[in-house]
Amino acid sequence: MSEQPGQDVVLFGGTGDLVMRKLLPALYQLHNHAMLASDVSIIGIARESIDTAEYRRIALEQCRRFLKTDFDEAQWPAFEARIQYRPLDARDPATFGALAECLGDVGRRSQVYYLSTAPALFTSICRNLHETGLITPESRVVLEKPLGHDLASSRQINDEVGRYFGEAQIYRIDHYLGKESVQNLLALRFGNALFEPLWRREWISDVQITVAEQIGVEQRAEFYDKTGALRDMVQNHLLQLLCIVAMEPPASIDADAVRDEKLKILRALRPIATDEVPLRTVRGQYRAGASSGQPVAGYLEEPGVAAASRTETFVALQANIDTWRWAGVPFYLRTGKRMQERLAEIVINFRAVPHSIFGKRAAALQNNRLVITMQPDESVKLHLQAKRPGDQMVLNPVSLDLDFAEGSQSRRLDAYERLLMDVMRGNLTLFVRRDEQEAAWKWVEPIMSSWNESSDPPKTYTAGTWGPAASTALPGREGFHWHEEL
Ligand code: BG6
Repeated sequence: MSEQPGQDVVLFGGTGDLVMRKLLPALYQLHNHAMLASDVSIIGIARESIDTAEYRRIALEQCRRFLKTDFDEAQWPAFEARIQYRPLDARDPATFGALAECLGDVGRRSQVYYLSTAPALFTSICRNLHETGLITPESRVVLEKPLGHDLASSRQINDEVGRYFGEAQIYRIDHYLGKESVQNLLALRFGNALFEPLWRREWISDVQITVAEQIGVEQRAEFYDKTGALRDMVQNHLLQLLCIVAMEPPASIDADAVRDEKLKILRALRPIATDEVPLRTVRGQYRAGASSGQPVAGYLEEPGVAAASRTETFVALQANIDTWRWAGVPFYLRTGKRMQERLAEIVINFRAVPHSIFGKRAAALQNNRLVITMQPDESVKLHLQAKRPGDQMVLNPVSLDLDFAEGSQSRRLDAYERLLMDVMRGNLTLFVRRDEQEAAWKWVEPIMSSWNESSDPPKTYTAGTWGPAASTALPGREGFHWHEEL
């Protein structure tokens, strides 16, 4: 898709949490660092009948709040001048006239329609954009998750959006793919001859992907209680990360080359049969405990959560990929709310040396590990053994910093900054294709139905811990340990 002069970024759900917390701050940062073309305009869309001046005032307040010390007052007036607001009812075609008027001749510019609304509105928005003549071959649509709550509903959304936009115009966002260290993993894997020969069952014993959050459900109980951690995090973010680790080298970094390889991994995931679910998965729900030294309520006491809710706030599972490269290598995935730390990381555990020449000192020998950290800070570290200086041959674990962020003059972009840039440039590589998304749903569905049918409730865990005890036992059965337990 070619670059066009002039672009309008239209934010549906314009007064919502994501726009205020992530999208406007990201656009502002791009502006601030001269990465936003001067002819890009931003149009906030929501139902509230406020005017542009009021919207700009709210945007200013929220950008200040979320960017903290990164906020530069001096840059605001020029950024603010890009912003317009139009009140609009997504379900009422008559109200789209105001947007059409604001956009002017759509053929002369390109449009990015960012749907940061409940998915129930996606169809009406797309249909009304179409009927108002606001979709051209150069228009793009960005879809925020959740894209459905199972395979059937995600197909329905994709069919409906697909009526008005071609697949090459659809950007399904997974913000984990926009994280710098995830892209660094791609660079390390495919930009070096060193890793690829080792990136296989002969040298890797297990892979662990953890996304632990300290926060609880916050103000999202109504959504979360119907969703749970499997749908909210595993079906998308964790499986996408697994794909980046496990995929074969694509022939190029082009969108379809990368997405074809990710799809092959999703299709090679061994289905977890209903009777295996209790063995290969752990679902948990937090009880009252402490977070950062403060007492916090249990999930069932959170406002908006059903009294006897069985929604999981924690999932751990073992995935297996049935390919030559990964046969016999377990991929342990884990995510939860109200965990001990905020930590998102991928750990690639390499096998032990086949024989230690160091005799008793071998007890100190640790396996090599590549750790890609996404939260709380981004880093990539390779853990090795080296000799401790001195007269004895004693081995010490050392770690090599592989992301070189400290020495670099370049600024690290927030995931949404990076992904918005990609949408504006028309680069789909870091966005999820429909077939990938559906393959991911297909794999998680038997887990969801087995849990639904089971008479066992989720296992409880105290807020501020690493999840239910059964989670430790999951890798433990095959002689592995979660990274923090080492
Ligand atoms: C979102 C989930 O996709 O990711 C949230 O809906 C979760 O429940 C969030 O809190 C985590 O993202 P990050 O980047 O803060 O780890």
